[in-house]
Amino acid sequence: MTEQFEFTTTEEQTSAVDTSVFGEGTRAEAKQIIARYPESRSALLPMLHLVQSVQGHVSPAGIKFCAEELALSVAEVSAVATFYTMYKRKPCGQHLVSVCTNTMCAVLGGDAIYKALGEHLDVGHEGTAGEPGTEGSITLEHAECLAACDLGPVLQVNYEYYDNQTPEQALELVKALQRGEKPAPTRGPALSDFRGAERQLAGFFDDLDETVTGPSQATETNRGAALAQERGWTAPSMPDDAELPPLPEKK
Ligand code: FES
Repeated sequence: MTEQFEFTTTEEQTSAVDTSVFGEGTRAEAKQIIARYPESRSALLPMLHLVQSVQGHVSPAGIKFCAEELALSVAEVSAVATFYTMYKRKPCGQHLVSVCTNTMCAVLGGDAIYKALGEHLDVGHEGTAGEPGTEGSITLEHAECLAACDLGPVLQVNYEYYDNQTPEQALELVKALQRGEKPAPTRGPALSDFRGAERQLAGFFDDLDETVTGPSQATETNRGAALAQERGWTAPSMPDDAELPPLPEKK
């Protein structure tokens, strides 16, 4: 039975939540994240990604851990964790498959891809096929525009792009993931897993050289810039003397 996210609404419930899953190493990394920001509370978003890199979702323990480290209330952390869709309230599979079903991708075949994957995995939005976290387990979600409309229909696995997909290609990809394989994304680094991606989103790149390898551009995306270059079009330059506001004192 998988753990479900539940609000801890009373002090008694909150004090009963055990945060020992976050060991000394994770607490030290939390302090590194906090040190990046002038105000500690600004570290909450990457802290929640750090929590997901440990547990595969944001659990009540993760909420309490963030509250303790950032001197926030459990209610404040819960409000943020339940607002953004990238924070998962149920344990995620080894891989998170996000299919863009926004307008451009939908008309190009995104809806058909989502339907084919849902039928194959026998799950709906945010459903997981397999035991969460184990090899080959897949969480499926439909996503809003993934900012790659020129390459649609697109899907992402752990936020890495697979461009110009068909239902057949997407099915082959998901079946390979279920077999424990990691087909290369169209662009970007080699595929890791959901928890590995969450660690990067928290700002930890354990193997930076590996992370920055792989094609990072698509011809379609650069078409506008190439046309501008051919035609000699340029944007107005930034003034050299633009003043930046002073940083507030660290609280
Ligand atoms: S509509 Fe799918 S990437 Fe924009």
